[in-house]
Amino acid sequence: MSLKRTIFIANWKMNGIPDDIKEINKVAVFLQKKLKNYNKDIIYCPPASLLAYFFKNNFSKIVKFGSQDVSITKTPLGAFTGLLSSKILKLSGAEYVIIGHSEKRASGDTFKNIKEKIFLASKENLKIIFCIGESFNDKKKNKSINVLIKQIKNSISKKINLKNIIFAYEPIWSIGTGLVPDTEYLQKVFSFLNSFLRKNYSIKSPVILYGGSVNASNIKNLKIINHCSGYLVGGASLKAKNFIEIIKNYYN
Ligand code: PGA
Repeated sequence: MSLKRTIFIANWKMNGIPDDIKEINKVAVFLQKKLKNYNKDIIYCPPASLLAYFFKNNFSKIVKFGSQDVSITKTPLGAFTGLLSSKILKLSGAEYVIIGHSEKRASGDTFKNIKEKIFLASKENLKIIFCIGESFNDKKKNKSINVLIKQIKNSISKKINLKNIIFAYEPIWSIGTGLVPDTEYLQKVFSFLNSFLRKNYSIKSPVILYGGSVNASNIKNLKIINHCSGYLVGGASLKAKNFIEIIKNYYN
């Protein structure tokens, strides 16, 4: 049994239909049978339309649910066609919300939007999975750390409950590409983030995840990174078999 709490998040992106409940069911059965006493959080972020349906099927004691985004609406309900407030997400079964994913930044999320989303989600007591990460160009120019500092400083206000923030370091060039940074690079980034968050935000034990092409083969290498509390998994989380392999290989 492992003492360290490890978080595995399944980011389904624009994938998933009601029938895929069976994939979550398989994972829940595996967790229940094989990993019951391990210190872990398994969080599924399906498309928002499936949240309440999945949640009602009640694996909620074994897996938790989150949304992939939240809208900027100060009122919980109202005349905002197409938007989803933190309140609606929460009442639909979300305990977590992903904010600042690079795919959302690429489709228009600004620092200002992200900051506001974090503020509103935090007010509703949702746990925030805040994504940060540099582009390949930033990395090439040795600017990764500066980019991460900028993303954090422009989005996180000290007024919010910092205990509710999970940081997810996802190098953009690693997402969906099969490329994963080498251990030395990752260790440098995680050590930096850990001390930066402790020093500048007084977060005693920052929770920082890695995301980007995580799979059953590279999890063994990713497991050894200090200050890494878990993984944000996209493609390899869609099928129960692959997601289970990742979790299994992590613990074995
Ligand atoms: P990936 O996606 O695992 O498919 O690279 C990760 C993410 O975008 O969160």
